[in-house]
Amino acid sequence: MTGGHSTAGSIWDDVDDYFAEHLAPSDEALDAALAACVDAGLPPISVTPLQGKLLYLLAQMCGARRILEIGTLGGYSTIWLGRAMAPDGQLITLEIDPARADIARRNIARAGLGERVEILVAPAAESLARLEAEHVEPFDFAFIDADKASSAVYVDAVIRLSRSGTVIVVDNVVRDGAVVDAATENVDVQGIRALVDLLARESRVSGTAIQTVGNKGYDGFILATVTAAV
Ligand code: SAH
Ligand code: DHB
Ligand code: MG
Repeated sequence: MTGGHSTAGSIWDDVDDYFAEHLAPSDEALDAALAACVDAGLPPISVTPLQGKLLYLLAQMCGARRILEIGTLGGYSTIWLGRAMAPDGQLITLEIDPARADIARRNIARAGLGERVEILVAPAAESLARLEAEHVEPFDFAFIDADKASSAVYVDAVIRLSRSGTVIVVDNVVRDGAVVDAATENVDVQGIRALVDLLARESRVSGTAIQTVGNKGYDGFILATVTAAV
C-alpha cells in the first residue's frame, strides 16, 4: 500500500503469517514470481498470499472459465487466479507497462500457465474497448487492481463484458480508511468513491465491501456480482 502500513509489526501481521503458512503455503512458482518482482525493483504491492488464495477460491467457487484481470504487475495474483481455472480456461490480464508485462510473462510461464494467460499491454481502457469491440465471450470473474482513479470506469466496462452472475472483485478500496473522506483531493480515493456511487445506483450490479488487515496494512476489497444479463 502507499502509506501508513498502520498495522505493520502488529498482531494483524502475526495472524496473517499464521493463516498464510497453513492455508496459503508458497511454492516454487509463487516464490520465484515474488523474487523476480523484487529483483526488478517492482513495488511490493502484489496481493498477499492469503488474498491470492481468496481470489483463487472465489474464482473456483464460481467455476470461472474466463477470467479478466486489470493490473498485472509481476503476475503474482495472475498465477493464483490462473490456477483456479479449468484446463480449458482463459485468463486475460491488462498491463500498461511493457517491462512489467515481460516480468509477468516469465513468471506466468514458469507457473505452467503460459498457454492459458494472455497479457494485453496497453492502457486498460484501450484494451477493454478492444475486447468490447471484438464481442469476446463474457467473463465469469474479474479482478480489478490497476490505477484506482479509474476503478468506476473499469467496473462500468467490465459490466459490458459480463453475463448475469459474473463476479467482480476490486482491490484497495479502503486505503487506511481514506475512503470515508468525501472532500478528498486524492484521485485514487475519488475513483473508489465514484465506484461505490456506481454500485449504489446501478441496478445491474450488487456489491459489498470487506475491510482487511494484515501484511499489506489496512485496506479492503469490493465484491460484486452482475445481476442482470447485459
Ligand atoms: N494484481 C497485481 C498487482 C497490480 S499493481 C498483483 O496483485 O500481483 C497495479 C498494476 O496496474 C501496475 O503494474 C500498474 O503498472 C498497472 N496499471 C496502472 N495503470 C494502468 C492502466 N491505466 N492500464 C493498465 N494497467 C495499469
Ligand atoms: C498500490 C496498488 C495496489 O494494487 C495495492 O494493492 C497496494 C498499493 C499502490 O499503487 O500504491
Ligand atoms: Mg492491489
